[in-house]
Amino acid sequence: MNKYYIETFGCQMNVHESEKLAGLMEERGLVLAPAASEADVIIFNTCCIRDTAEKKIEGYIGELKALKRSNPDKILAVTGCMTQQVGRAEALKKRFPFIDIILGTANQYDISEKIDELLSLKKRRAQIDISFCDSPRVREDVPVCRTSFPNAWVNIMYGCNNFCTYCIVPYVRGRERSRAKSDILGEIRSLTDKGYAEITLLGQNVDSYGSDFKDGTNFYKLLKDISEIDGKFRVRFMTSHPKDISEEVIKIIAETPNFCKNVHLPVQAGSDAVLKAMNRKYTRSRYLELIDLIRKYMPDCGITTDVMVGFPGETDADFEDTVDLIERVRFQNAFTFVYSPRAGTPAALMEQVAPEVKKERITRLVALQNRISDEISSEYLNKTEEILVEDAPRDGVLVGRTDSGRLVSFHGEKSLIGSFVNVRITSNKASALFGERVENG
Ligand code: SAH
Ligand code: SF4
Ligand code: F3S
Repeated sequence: MNKYYIETFGCQMNVHESEKLAGLMEERGLVLAPAASEADVIIFNTCCIRDTAEKKIEGYIGELKALKRSNPDKILAVTGCMTQQVGRAEALKKRFPFIDIILGTANQYDISEKIDELLSLKKRRAQIDISFCDSPRVREDVPVCRTSFPNAWVNIMYGCNNFCTYCIVPYVRGRERSRAKSDILGEIRSLTDKGYAEITLLGQNVDSYGSDFKDGTNFYKLLKDISEIDGKFRVRFMTSHPKDISEEVIKIIAETPNFCKNVHLPVQAGSDAVLKAMNRKYTRSRYLELIDLIRKYMPDCGITTDVMVGFPGETDADFEDTVDLIERVRFQNAFTFVYSPRAGTPAALMEQVAPEVKKERITRLVALQNRISDEISSEYLNKTEEILVEDAPRDGVLVGRTDSGRLVSFHGEKSLIGSFVNVRITSNKASALFGERVENG
């Protein structure tokens, strides 16, 4: 056994968790294979936020059947959110009997032990363990094999307590658990010492960081301590919750040069009736007040959001409220979703909106947001922006982000990845920006 391959689905939390699964594979001497077909251990780290995610994953797992048949020694492991749903692990095993290991969100870091167990058996028997407690301990002992230089993902908390009525996350990730501040600060210092130029703090609701400690620790105090770390590096975080983001958090982002002027603040819907049914715990007017507050402190802040159509009971008038909110706020970018019923959540039992209505609404919403993103893009024309170079997708072509989070493409050498350069924006196409490098000064 010498090669592993990981296929990751879902959010940044999962992307980072896959970096930990990769760390565990490298710890046992395996190296990354360029494709699943060349790997001895194949891990699928899964998501179940919407039905489309699950269908896609099932399609991919199905494709591995032939691979397993031609080489039964390969180990196929399925981990993460999808497996943690009630009855899902058994259903997966039944449909795909060739899966060797299934682990949930709380015990996926036991993968090495499960591989050892599997290898010690004379006749292979699937290792299925999704044992779950609401508050699994925070693990600080897992090695990380990072894959997104110059950005580094840093968990500040796990789980979610909010139980938005449409959302599966609290059921598959358990209650909020914060990492000790000293562990987070130590990790950030060691990352910036290694040259990582962007730190993205991760949590389902970063604004409630520390509330489980009950000693006054909070997100603002964490940001304050991070603001005191020396060096030039960017800090972003996701996700903020409108019910919890505080003025002092907004102020410290505005005042700290290392903190990107970029806030992702999911609104979900523009109608009070829908927000209430979603259990979001804020109103449309409170949300609009928050946007004003962010813009008061940071007029150029890139504000992005998540928004959903077709939540149960959403009327035409409710949808018009969402359209109106999107037009008023003018988000830099919005991730738009069609509501997908998730078994076990309260909204799945409510009266559903017809598929053709959902389709009509999403089409309108996407077109509206594209127009706004395009208009905001043209406001960047001829401006010079500081860009952190993130990647070189093609020879001589670089991509990076503005402080506000916009992606910019320009010409330059691969060796610039990880550096800050100044770029003048020369053209735009929808939400993509193009520019040319100018001397730093
Ligand atoms: N913790 C974050 C993100 C959670 S998941 C937050 O509170 O915003 C990311 C996004 O997926 C959500 O913001 C929501 O817009 C969307 N989402 C969650 N459940 C969904 C469902 N059942 N159907 C469609 N979209 C969903
Ligand atoms: Fe899901 Fe709501 Fe928690 Fe976000 S805050 S993860 S949308 S329950
Ligand atoms: Fe993320 Fe999907 Fe789980 S969005 S938290 S991987 S359900």
